[in-house]
Amino acid sequence: MSERIFIGVAWPYANNRLHLGHVAGAYLPPDIFARYHRTKGNEVLMVSGSDQHGTPVTIRAEAEGKSPAEVAAFFHQKFVDSWAALGITFDLYTNTGTANHAAVVQDIFLRLLDKDYLYKDTVSQPYCTKCKRFLPDRYVEGVCPSCKLPGARGDQCDACGKPMNPADLLNACCKLCGTPPEFRQTEHFFLRLSAFQQPLLEWVNQNVDHWRPNVQRFTRRYLEEGLRDRAITRDITWGIPVPLPGYEDKRIYVWFEAVIGYLSASKEWAQGTGDPEAWRKFWQEECRSYYFIGKDNIPFHTIIWPAMLMGYGGLNLPYDVPSNEFLTVEAQKLSKSKNIAIWLEDFLSRYRPDALRYVLSVNMPDTSDTDFSWREFVRRNNDELVATYGNLVNRVLSMLQRHFEGKAPQPGDLDERSAGIIDRTEETLRTMDELLYACRFKEAIKTAMALAAEANRYLDEKSPWKAVKTEKNAAAAALYTALCVISGLRTAFYPFLPFSSEKLHRFLGFDGSVEADGWKLRRPAPGAQLNPPEALFIKLDDSIVDEEMSRLGLMPPK
Ligand code: MF3
Ligand code: ZN
Repeated sequence: MSERIFIGVAWPYANNRLHLGHVAGAYLPPDIFARYHRTKGNEVLMVSGSDQHGTPVTIRAEAEGKSPAEVAAFFHQKFVDSWAALGITFDLYTNTGTANHAAVVQDIFLRLLDKDYLYKDTVSQPYCTKCKRFLPDRYVEGVCPSCKLPGARGDQCDACGKPMNPADLLNACCKLCGTPPEFRQTEHFFLRLSAFQQPLLEWVNQNVDHWRPNVQRFTRRYLEEGLRDRAITRDITWGIPVPLPGYEDKRIYVWFEAVIGYLSASKEWAQGTGDPEAWRKFWQEECRSYYFIGKDNIPFHTIIWPAMLMGYGGLNLPYDVPSNEFLTVEAQKLSKSKNIAIWLEDFLSRYRPDALRYVLSVNMPDTSDTDFSWREFVRRNNDELVATYGNLVNRVLSMLQRHFEGKAPQPGDLDERSAGIIDRTEETLRTMDELLYACRFKEAIKTAMALAAEANRYLDEKSPWKAVKTEKNAAAAALYTALCVISGLRTAFYPFLPFSSEKLHRFLGFDGSVEADGWKLRRPAPGAQLNPPEALFIKLDDSIVDEEMSRLGLMPPK
């Protein structure tokens, strides 16, 4: 029976380029998951968009003398191009600047207000007397009261991941001019998060056994500390207006509205399909909702967004929030200021998307931080993609071109060894099915590569290149067997390496798409015409390691 799967992907701030940490953390995993479920024949909706509001964008705009809208549009276009180049298959990738998004946000705001989950209160907010303005959270910096490290912002401490209020910071000062802010009275709307303490605790206790340990731990700790109500409006002009008279100078807080993007994007997608009610299948009917995010976004997706959904009523809560850990680069923590980052568009201008998808999958930071190094990238590309998988495909398909008129041979009776490796191919697909269903991507791709390695050993044993001269039937059986394994690998690798799987699909003479064949072994029909193969992957020269290390400003290791 087919299942329904909603996939929400974190909305990147449209204020900077994307780097490999973004891809490994939050963008590649959901695409693997979506492609797998589509191949299974499940009904998938995967949405996201650019987060164009908030101070990350206004800070950049001020620095560049541009409007926030210009900055957001510039990066949004780059993101859209990158998703296409990397093969990230959103059903809709939109942005938070649409009229639809504003309408959905304002609807939720008013309903929560109506149900008394929002209330007004006067608070004191940091005000910079030198800049003559209220300071948004991110414009205040200081020492984190929890981990005691400096550089914490008024919205969050990146060092320990705790959400913050500007008043919590020790030694606070204005990010723009360095003046310690004074606190002035201003009226804001608050989300009554405290009202959800008990319902959230019950939900977490009953529903999250399948969550990753880090996500469970983080969420429980947060709940145990007790939930405090949070201001969800700000004294700024860039953002979604408060839908009430008298609040023209205030905007809805970016985090409150960005998470609503999951719902508004689903509605926008439905509009685009010609069935404006289609979003309901994913939000109001039987459906599992997965949210793929970086670990710095956990509380917003396991606490605040579920609370908003509970308050609104009648909408599905998250089923899983498979958040990844961080990716370091050459064993260093990513730092934009020190230029320790590998930018996605640079990467894709020099290397193929499947090569990147491969290394980030096989080394995914799913349960602990992992490291990207150029030496390892070259090694895995050359040893695993080129020498193991690519070479297997190439050997088999070239021999068939040369000795069997480019046709799938007649297998005859298969011996035990040959039947065994076909069984193993089916077993690999079954094992991967379980792993992928559980979001265990790294283990899944390793299972596929292990089969490719085994198929090479099989070919070496059978040596069809020799047998073809003396016992053509034995060569035919071995090559037919290997062809079946390759067809299975095409499916097994498809969620991870879609570009090469689609190529291989055409080499095998299949029409339609890999997805349409379903998650099972398709055996080529004996006698079917194949197409001449080209290299699936490109070998990389060792010299790129030094070249790339010097781009990063790092000395190449001796
Ligand atoms: N823009 C936020 C960030 O880059 C993520 C927002 S995720 C959302 O950290 F769900 F709130 F949209
Ligand atoms: Zn100032």
